[in-house]
Amino acid sequence: MHESLKNKVVIVTGSARGIGRAIAERFASVGSKIVVNDLNQSDIDQVVDSITAAGGKAMSAVADVSDSTAVGTMIDAVMAEHGRIDVLVNNAGILSPMLHFFEADEAWWRRIIDVNLTGHFIVSHPVARIMAKQGGGNIINMSSGGATRAHRAFTAYDATKGGIEALTRAMALDLGPYNIRINALMPGSIDTSGMDLEARKRRGENVPLGRVGEPIDMTGAALFLASDEANYITGEITKVDGGMLAQQRSATVDIMPPSDFPKLEDL
Ligand SMILES: NC(=O)c1ccc[n+]([C@@H]2O[C@H](COP(=O)([O-])OP(=O)(O)OC[C@H]3O[C@@H](n4cnc5c(N)ncnc54)[C@H](O)[C@@H]3O)[C@@H](O)[C@H]2O)c1
Repeated sequence: MHESLKNKVVIVTGSARGIGRAIAERFASVGSKIVVNDLNQSDIDQVVDSITAAGGKAMSAVADVSDSTAVGTMIDAVMAEHGRIDVLVNNAGILSPMLHFFEADEAWWRRIIDVNLTGHFIVSHPVARIMAKQGGGNIINMSSGGATRAHRAFTAYDATKGGIEALTRAMALDLGPYNIRINALMPGSIDTSGMDLEARKRRGENVPLGRVGEPIDMTGAALFLASDEANYITGEITKVDGGMLAQQRSATVDIMPPSDFPKLEDL
């Protein structure tokens, strides 16, 4: 599967940490040429150094995805270095600060919309034009369970993720004829903030697979969607959530909680 990703030029936005970093490092491990994008040069350098130290190929690209001038400069630098862009992972996103709807204000709303949703458009628009001219490419957007199931105190965030799923389907239609596939990943509860043990246990209990996710759990699906194995998949939202969204009620409040399930020794 990974053969088709060798020497492919892959931009991962927001890849200085968390899910983005794990995806960037995994693509590098199969021989892709990585563009590590984020807001801060020294954070990016750490990832570029770790990839090159592991024998991978990576370049840094500081740019705020909501700033079209900075994004234009980033894309010019990638084209000057590689002359093409094969995969774009629109991973950058913000969720904080959490505010109840009554506590929210216009600036808060606009900043989250600008980064999470408009950022997807601002990076994808010039990149898709380059992909169309080179004969094709792959774009992977980053959704959340919030697209279809709401979080409390996350009105702007959930609105962006709902928008990203609709954008993914609409871009798939507009860009399909140019051999550009557009899909999205929907992460479940992925520990990128260093949850304490108690929080991991409490969150994990409400996931059918019984644990919170790790950033690495997101990478297999990202590589698959970008690979030739997924050549007939576009407009798809792939859940990587340990089964979280398959359930109607969370485990601990379900009619038969997992604690009442048959014990292995009794099977
Ligand atoms: N962690 C989860 O449980 C989870 C669940 C669902 C969806 N997601 C989504 O996955 C993606 C990554 O989440 P994470 O938990 O790794 O987040 P994170 O906060 O750990 O990392 C996000 C990265 O994006 C960068 N970033 C933020 N704003 C940016 C901008 N304007 N331009 C460029 N880079 C920017 C940050 O500096 C950071 O390095 C986000 O889109 C998030 O909404 C995460």
